[in-house]
Order: sequence, then C-alpha cells, then structure tokens
Amino acid sequence: MRTFVLRARAAPTDSARLLAGVGGEAHTEILAHVLMNAIFVAQSHREDVIVYLVLESTPDYSRSVRFEAQAMRDLGGFDERALLAKVARALDASRGMGKDEERPVEAGVRVQTISFERLVEQLAVDHRLYVLDRKGTPIGEQAFDERPCFLLTDHIPMPKKTFGILDRLGATRLSLGPRMLFASQCVVLIHHALDGR
Ligand SMILES: C[S@@+](CC[C@H](N)C(=O)[O-])C[C@H]1O[C@@H](n2cnc3c(N)ncnc32)[C@H](O)[C@@H]1O
Repeated sequence: MRTFVLRARAAPTDSARLLAGVGGEAHTEILAHVLMNAIFVAQSHREDVIVYLVLESTPDYSRSVRFEAQAMRDLGGFDERALLAKVARALDASRGMGKDEERPVEAGVRVQTISFERLVEQLAVDHRLYVLDRKGTPIGEQAFDERPCFLLTDHIPMPKKTFGILDRLGATRLSLGPRMLFASQCVVLIHHALDGR
C-alpha cells in the first residue's frame, strides 16, 4: 500500500471557494493533479493507493479528505472538475462537524476534522513516514517497506516547526533531485521508483 498526504495549506475548506480557487492564489488545481497522478493510470487506476488531502485555509478546523482507491466504486473521471467535485462534496458533508470528528462521504471517501500534525502522528503508528525535501536522501538510495507514507505540500512550504515534529516521528527526508517540482510530479516519480522495485 502506498499512502500520500498532501498538506494543502492554501486550500479553502469552503466548497465554493475551493472550486473558485482553480488558477488563483489558492491553486486548488494542485489537489486535483495530486489525486489524478496518485490514483489513475491510463485506462485504469491503482488499487494500492490511499490519498489524504488536508485543506488548511479554514475558519474552524482543517479538513482531511481520505480517498481509498480500492474501495471507491464511482471514480467518476480524472479531469480537474470531476476530482475537485469529489473534494467539494466531502467539504459539504463536513459542515457543522466538531473537532476530531469523521464522516463517510461515499464509498472509499471519508472526511475528518483533524490537523496535519495529528493526522501524521496517527499514520506514524503503522506507516513509515517520508517527507519530500530536495535536500533529503535521494530516492534511489532509499529502501522502502510495505507501508510507506509520503508527505507533500502545495505551493506553500512546510512550516519549520513541523519538521521538528516529523523528526520526532522518525520521518525520513526524501529527495527527487535538485529541481523544485510540483507535488503531482513528485507523486509520479515516487510511483515510478516504487514500480521498478
Ligand atoms: C511546489 S513544491 C513546494 C514549493 C514550496 N515553495 C517550497 O519551497 O517547498 C511541492 C512539494 O513538492 C516537494 N518537492 C518539490 N520538488 C522536490 C524535489 N526535487 N525533491 C523532493 N521533494 C520535492 C516539496 O517538498 C513540496 O512538498
């Protein structure tokens, strides 16, 4: 199983603002691109993938939308509009939720009010964490076990204090080379590296 967590620091938790954010400062298209490249391949999809999108521009709580590819019955297309509609639906389902609550949205999709830090603490219990960082260990030199979990951000960097938390959780910094890539391009390169092993 491969798990990806996108910390979308600029992504609004209001569904209308999420949909209006494509191409704007929030760059919400990043969420669709990451979902697309994490789950889909030509004429099919990957069964062994879980994606968490953590949306952090919020008046109350961050929302984590969890997509489990093998449990999803209606993949509904891989274009930006279809994928963001799924995220928007999860946000609508999360209206009125209190802190640390979770709700099912549709088959394979769940939404939770949880911070990025709390989510990774939970994932660290049964996953090995890898935080994407150009100055980390080159991916070609890194061994992976059964349950890797890859942590990425949108266009806004991971706050410095988060690296302290991730270090305490034993996260490994992982590099895909010196060039700054989009998060969705990192996902493709990670799949490629793991597919070849
Ligand atoms: C567009 S980048 C983030 C850009 C942001 N301005 C920054 O300075 O971190 C999106 C994500 O991809 C990761 N990333 C981009 N290029 C990378 C590379 N060559 N190796 C490892 N991670 C990379 C970043 O760490 C980040 O999680």
